[in-house]
Amino acid sequence: MHLEIEQLSHTFAGRPPRAALAELSFAVPSGQFTAVIGPSGCGKSTLLRLAAGLLPVQEGSLRLGGQTPAQAGAQRRVAWMAQSPALLPWRTVRDNVLLALRFLPAGHAARLSADEALARVGLSDSANAYPFMLSGGMQQRLALARTLMLDAGLWLMDEPFAALDELTRERLTHELLDLWQAQRPTVLWVTHHIQEALRLADRVVVLSPRPARLILDLPVDLPRPRPESSPAFQALLSRLRAALGLAAAPAEEGA
Ligand SMILES: Nc1ncnc2c1ncn2[C@@H]1O[C@H](COP(=O)(O)OP(=O)(O)OP(=O)(O)O)[C@@H](O)[C@H]1O
Ligand SMILES: [Mg+2]
Repeated sequence: MHLEIEQLSHTFAGRPPRAALAELSFAVPSGQFTAVIGPSGCGKSTLLRLAAGLLPVQEGSLRLGGQTPAQAGAQRRVAWMAQSPALLPWRTVRDNVLLALRFLPAGHAARLSADEALARVGLSDSANAYPFMLSGGMQQRLALARTLMLDAGLWLMDEPFAALDELTRERLTHELLDLWQAQRPTVLWVTHHIQEALRLADRVVVLSPRPARLILDLPVDLPRPRPESSPAFQALLSRLRAALGLAAAPAEEGA
């Protein structure tokens, strides 16, 4: 699903009002994996919440496959994954996956069965368990299974693995990349992790401190997998760090 953001501004009411996005424009072609990076509080979650239809667009425009977020959302064409997954504790793992279908509009079928979705994320053995019996990584897998169930053309991912330990995070990002390559949704992936953005994404969009403006739009034209030690990776890393106002990485010092 093609995503088009044009002159998008957003201000939260209050005294004083708080501008979160300022005339932000960029487009994401269908099937592209775009990472979004920017300082804490700059407006990244606001951008995703606007795209998910959780906040009304105030100024400018945001179109998802030519539709408004409300239209695309009503047809379940958009999947949203937050930092901590919203799971119903009194339902089993399988039922939590099935819940994704509960509000599907008429005429829309699931892409996979619940058991197929659980198998894809390696949770078949836990289908009858309850969420509290799962580790943090397994809970995020469960959230990912729900995303897979829907045939969503756009995955909005707001640092979904940020709360996890390094190893689990690494494994899940690999799995996510496999799923993306098999299914090819458009992905908007918010992360604080510069290396992760470069390992995963086709492109990295760097936002300024609040209110978010576009300060760098960096294509990542490297074949996957991408060893961090390669000179091309390091060159892109330096550009990203410079755009974010960070000092050069230690590995490059004196180079
Ligand atoms: N509902 C709200 N009401 C008022 N202000 C808000 C609201 N939601 C967000 N903000 C403000 O808008 C700004 C952007 O918030 P947002 O959550 O989009 O930042 P972020 O880039 O996602 O930050 P982080 O990286 O820490 O998650 C912040 O200053 C925040 O305080
Ligand atoms: Mg955020």
